[in-house]
Amino acid sequence: MASKPGRRFDHRKIERNVTILAVLAFGAVAIGGIVEIAPLFWIDSTVKRVEGVRPYTPLEQAGRDIYVREGCYNCHSQMIRPFRDEVERYGHYSLAAESMYDHPFQWGSKRTGPDLARVGGRYSDEWQVQHLKDPRSVVPELIMPSYAFLAEHELDTSNADGHLKALRRVGVPYSDEDLKQAEADLKGQADPDADHADLIKRYPKAQARDFDGDPKRLTEMDALVAYLQSLGTMVDFKSAAPMEQPR
Ligand code: HEC
Repeated sequence: MASKPGRRFDHRKIERNVTILAVLAFGAVAIGGIVEIAPLFWIDSTVKRVEGVRPYTPLEQAGRDIYVREGCYNCHSQMIRPFRDEVERYGHYSLAAESMYDHPFQWGSKRTGPDLARVGGRYSDEWQVQHLKDPRSVVPELIMPSYAFLAEHELDTSNADGHLKALRRVGVPYSDEDLKQAEADLKGQADPDADHADLIKRYPKAQARDFDGDPKRLTEMDALVAYLQSLGTMVDFKSAAPMEQPR
């Protein structure tokens, strides 16, 4: 439809009046912002819960903190995308619910090394320890740095419940009992002689054993390997179906 030039909507009016331009630009940006941001306020109902996903044990959480501290995310992602090549290599694509208790999440955007979202159980503890201590002894051409010092550092157990309390404030459902037992859980999970029944009742499928090959000491290596061995093991994909939201 050809309209006369004089009848056309006159952009010049808007573009020359800075106030009108600012108001309209703000309106346009606000609509985009609301569409993107508003759903986050209802994130609890946005993420479909999946059976098996539980908060990390204090030891796994400590290992996770070391993972973040050491910057493992600079080379490793933890999100399997729903593409055939990824699913064949790494396993079932990641579900949002699997990282719902991750603060901060470790999806990552860089894969110098492989994705680690389902690395739990893929290798033995011995392999993990050897690989972290001297990566080139397992994979000769590997460029991953050595983290041998983790096996020398005692794990700091002084503020176990503080860490859980902070996570509880941002929505991770640790119970009062979890907080009370935090230090005992932290030490007990890597102690092969401790009684693990209570821990496993509160944290189903938690793996309790000595992880770093030195049962006498509780090291940062214990924590990191416990964390790695838990990755991707919580959901049983053979029988899991999304559950209804309990709230
Ligand atoms: C400079 C990059 C870099 C950093 C930093 C790094 N890695 Fe790696 N990592 C790699 C590469 C590359 C591989 C691939 C080795 C191979 O399979 O040939 C790898 C492999 C691995 C594997 C074996 C995965 C598999 O499925 O085979 C694990 C587990 C792992 N890294 C854990 C860690 C942890 C934990 C940290 C932090 C403490 C870390 N990495 C830091 C580069 C890195």
